[in-house]
Amino acid sequence: MAHQESTFIAIKPDSMQRGLVGEIIKRFEQKGFRLVAMKFLQASQELLKQHYIDLKDCPFFPGLVKYMNSGPVVAMVWELLNVVKMGRMMLGETNPVDSKPGTICGDFCIQVGRNIIHGSDSVKSAEKEISLWFKPEEVVDYKSCAFDWI
Ligand code: RTP
Ligand code: MG
Repeated sequence: MAHQESTFIAIKPDSMQRGLVGEIIKRFEQKGFRLVAMKFLQASQELLKQHYIDLKDCPFFPGLVKYMNSGPVVAMVWELLNVVKMGRMMLGETNPVDSKPGTICGDFCIQVGRNIIHGSDSVKSAEKEISLWFKPEEVVDYKSCAFDWI
């Protein structure tokens, strides 16, 4: 039986504007991960400052919060074995210049300041991020009929 693990994935405002939402969700679905929570919202500056709190002293922090607050995002929780590490591999590197073709950043973006998607970088930060963005009752537990085949 696969161990459960959860990751927080956010489709950033530039992906929204560029019509990449379906393409990104498709990749996670086709990989076989299980979607257990999703919401569409314009995140507040307060939420985003908390989300990126570890980067608060970076010179790009104000621009990052502004970018993330500039339009709607799609916030999601995906689950299954090793989803944090494999999710990050699917995203590619933080800077698109280092991201290989085949990854989301490698295929769809160019600049680090417009890198279209967020994914938790560890199991611990995933737990923090999921509790920041979702109430416990917004995360749905169900059995996917494909589970036994993945
Ligand atoms: P994320 O949290 O969004 O998934 O990105 P990450 O872990 O790969 O990278 P992180 O260090 O957490 O940076 C968060 C976001 O800040 C923006 N950034 N801009 N201008 C810059 O040099 C710079 N560096 C980072 C990116 O949007 C990055 O995803
Ligand atoms: Mg990060």
